[in-house]
Amino acid sequence: MTGIRRIGVLTSGGDCAGLNAVIRAITYRAIDGYGWDVVGIRNGTAGLLARPVEAERLTTANFPGTLMRTGGTVLGTTNKGNPFEFPENDGSTRDRSPEVIDGWRSLEIDALVGIGGDGSLQILRRLAQQGAMALVGVPKTIDNDVGPTEVSIGYPTAVMTATLALDHLQPTAASHSRVMVLEVMGRDAGHIALAAGISGGADVILIPEIPYSIAAVAAKLRRMKEDGRNFALVVVAEAVRTEDGQAVRQFRAGGSGAYGGIGYYIASRITEETGAETRVTVLGHLQRGGIPTPRDRLMASIFGVHAVDLIAAGRFDRMVAWSGRQVTDVPLAEAAGSSRDVDVAGPLVHTARGLGICLGDA
Ligand code: F6P
Repeated sequence: MTGIRRIGVLTSGGDCAGLNAVIRAITYRAIDGYGWDVVGIRNGTAGLLARPVEAERLTTANFPGTLMRTGGTVLGTTNKGNPFEFPENDGSTRDRSPEVIDGWRSLEIDALVGIGGDGSLQILRRLAQQGAMALVGVPKTIDNDVGPTEVSIGYPTAVMTATLALDHLQPTAASHSRVMVLEVMGRDAGHIALAAGISGGADVILIPEIPYSIAAVAAKLRRMKEDGRNFALVVVAEAVRTEDGQAVRQFRAGGSGAYGGIGYYIASRITEETGAETRVTVLGHLQRGGIPTPRDRLMASIFGVHAVDLIAAGRFDRMVAWSGRQVTDVPLAEAAGSSRDVDVAGPLVHTARGLGICLGDA
């Protein structure tokens, strides 16, 4: 044992379904399993920058039966305001990491569980190193792009939501003889598009990892029509670019531009090339909310318990991971900032091709 008495937990980066189930598992394991105190830090690193620091003691009573069934994070989160390059009002940035570290220290916690994606974990790791503090990471992101884990919290529910969207689009597509284009999230990776596209019976799936041509998409849609199909389902990942290589982004407050809108481009190009009537659905943040699937709740519970067990064993600077039907853990350095794209030689791409789904390249 390591003399641990009190641990902290925070969520950082974009929210997703399953976060409350992770916080719950951490709280239960720490209190019931080890007799520690648990402090929940609010709004990710923003809570550590605030004065007084935004944090509260968590007990198992904070987790009534309803909470593990809900999306979002009871602790709040932020996906902006990197403390090392904190944006100032005049457009400049400032290193506010010493303030975050002071806030972290003021909580008198012996270790912190940071629940985040690769970017958030990278920031937390840098803070932990700078402040000589104990950190364990839990991977979460609907994008499922954290390198060393086969699944991140939030991804199963996002795939479920995108699959249900295709289930809802198919009957209306067939009723009106339309091509339905569904744009899904995923940041720079096509994991959600590929998994939901296969699960939801898509005819075309476009992901950023595979270059596409509208000619190939149009040829597929024409063949389907000749074979008697009166509708088609097209899934496009948000990071897919226009044919001349432009990323499609939406203007955001603060000047940052998140992906969004490529579905409209793809739909209008399909109409130009085939004459088909198209409609577009941009699924957006629906993929981040929703009731966590059993898979997400299970992974959240497994990851939460394992994260606390790592702390009890004094094994810090590690991230919990799922690999080969086992919970495991890897050095945080391997995970932080390492983004995993779709493996174009992997089983899902092979399966999609085997089903005759057009991936835009042939
Ligand atoms: O990383 C998760 C994610 O949902 C991406 O799929 C998406 O590009 C981005 O976050 C959206 O971020 P925001 O919540 O700032 O709109």
